[in-house]
Amino acid sequence: MYLLAIESSCDDTAVSVLKDGEPLSNVVSSQMVHERYGGVVPEMASREHQKNIVQVCRNALNNAGIGMGEIGAIAATIGPGLPGSLLVGATFAKGLSLSLGIPLIGVNHMEAHVLSLLISQENLKFPYLCLVVSGGHTMLVLVTEWNQMQILGQTQDDAVGEAFDKCAKLLGFRYPGGKIIDDLATTGNPTAFSFPVAKVPELQFSYSGVKTAVQYFLREKPEEFIKENLNDLCASIQNALLKPLVSNAVLAMKQQQLQNLGICGGVAANKGLRKILQEEAKRNGWKLFVPDFEYCTDNAAMIGRAAWYLWKEKKFSPLTIATEPRMVIGQ
Ligand code: KG4
Ligand code: ZN
Repeated sequence: MYLLAIESSCDDTAVSVLKDGEPLSNVVSSQMVHERYGGVVPEMASREHQKNIVQVCRNALNNAGIGMGEIGAIAATIGPGLPGSLLVGATFAKGLSLSLGIPLIGVNHMEAHVLSLLISQENLKFPYLCLVVSGGHTMLVLVTEWNQMQILGQTQDDAVGEAFDKCAKLLGFRYPGGKIIDDLATTGNPTAFSFPVAKVPELQFSYSGVKTAVQYFLREKPEEFIKENLNDLCASIQNALLKPLVSNAVLAMKQQQLQNLGICGGVAANKGLRKILQEEAKRNGWKLFVPDFEYCTDNAAMIGRAAWYLWKEKKFSPLTIATEPRMVIGQ
């Protein structure tokens, strides 16, 4: 069964063709227009999706070597995400479903992130703990089945990727600066400076305080200081941002007596996070699963993977389905 999946919840226009839940192609067009604004401009994101979606779809079909007529179902993200961006992908999918006479499957973007761990990963079995760390989300999800997920903890304010990007901006880096901090942190001292992490209830996260602490700290320093201490600053900021992720993930693994830990979302690419979690997994006898980078960040293959489970149970969506910008896991 060939399935065409569409993702357009934020600033990436993505289409993937899958065969029986495994991607044959995975095309992502990342919008560069937002770079100069230091964050995603929602209205511009919707327009870029409109411009890109047809070509991205053609590329995904070409890369898979599949004709439109061979597609058996269409999947699209229906939430959560930016209202205008979601509308473009979902409406395009409805048009295809209607014209080709094939089922439409609406997918929850967050559930798809959590299930992306299972792409090309035969060794990962339920139950597992998934740490979702991206520009929009920071949460710990207990996954007992493809359709049974429970949020154990999540951020009370900023997402960790957002905090990385805001701190990067304070250091003068371009958007999104998470990877720049990560790269410079590898040769810095993580304990050179101390940035406090807000105290929140068990398994929860809070990141707006770290950004403010960095802001106040840098405000009193001359430009020379930042230049001379850049690697140590990056390592120390990263240390403050990663600490709660690691301590909460370890606590949840122990509380739930799990063996399998997975990470996904853009921040899962962070070298420091991977290294520390790998050490924790080794120490505790757990298995750590990290999807290939192309499935970590926003992509349509994960939407297709989630849709494939729904397709197997004939859980199709009506053409009247509406997008849900504030959709939550399990909705
Ligand atoms: O999942 P994702 O591609 O999409 C959104 O949620 O928008 O995540 C993007 C986020 C950005 O905040 C980016 O700075 C961060 O992931 N990111 C990183 C790294 N690579 C991407 N953060 C830290 N270290 C990295 N290596
Ligand atoms: Zn995402």
